[in-house]
Amino acid sequence: MALGREAQGCARATLQVANEHFEPIFNAVLCRLMFVADEVAMLALGARLAAFIDGGACIWLEGELGSGKTTFARGLLRALGVKGAVKSPTYTLVEPYELPTRPVYHFDLYRLADGEELEAIGVRDYFDNQALCLVEWPERGGDYLPAADLRIHIAYQGEGREIRLEANSETGKHLAALLRE
Ligand SMILES: Nc1ncnc2c1ncn2[C@@H]1O[C@H](COP(=O)(O)OP(=O)(O)OP(=O)(O)O)[C@@H](O)[C@H]1O
Ligand SMILES: [Mg+2]
Repeated sequence: MALGREAQGCARATLQVANEHFEPIFNAVLCRLMFVADEVAMLALGARLAAFIDGGACIWLEGELGSGKTTFARGLLRALGVKGAVKSPTYTLVEPYELPTRPVYHFDLYRLADGEELEAIGVRDYFDNQALCLVEWPERGGDYLPAADLRIHIAYQGEGREIRLEANSETGKHLAALLRE
């Protein structure tokens, strides 16, 4: 990937977050990359995002099988107060969490046969402005899925993962900026 001068000049800094290291690689306007070394760091990154969420948001978690989408969601959900196991709702499509602050809906669309299935479960009701929606395998929802505020793309990178953040709204830009700080 060709980096602009500003991106190349961006200082490499190691952030200490919940005792884990995140190394920002560069900081573009809408696309921010960071390296997440292991599962513990992924949980901490999810928890870090939880601290910044104020109101509703739609967050897509993209990446190959086993890349760490549920791990990220688990860190976020635990930080929001979810107790017990956080499993991906692969067979039920969505797991609702009625938290004191806001409703949170964790989707896993891996087994979605057809976007129309989302219509059948009344997907629009989940995506109101007050709720936080986390969506694994969003690409399977097609046009039936509302647009994301923030897309978190996770890719394998050696033993760890590289994360690309893409903000698609003011809410998303705000969250991406805070997460990257
Ligand atoms: N940053 C990381 N570095 C290395 N391993 C990680 C990282 N984050 C998560 N993992 C590991 O990757 C494995 C798969 O994680 P997880 O189940 O979260 O992936 P997923 O993307 O949700 O998978 P699926 O596509 O099946 O939904 C787990 O063993 C987890 O510990
Ligand atoms: Mg998963």
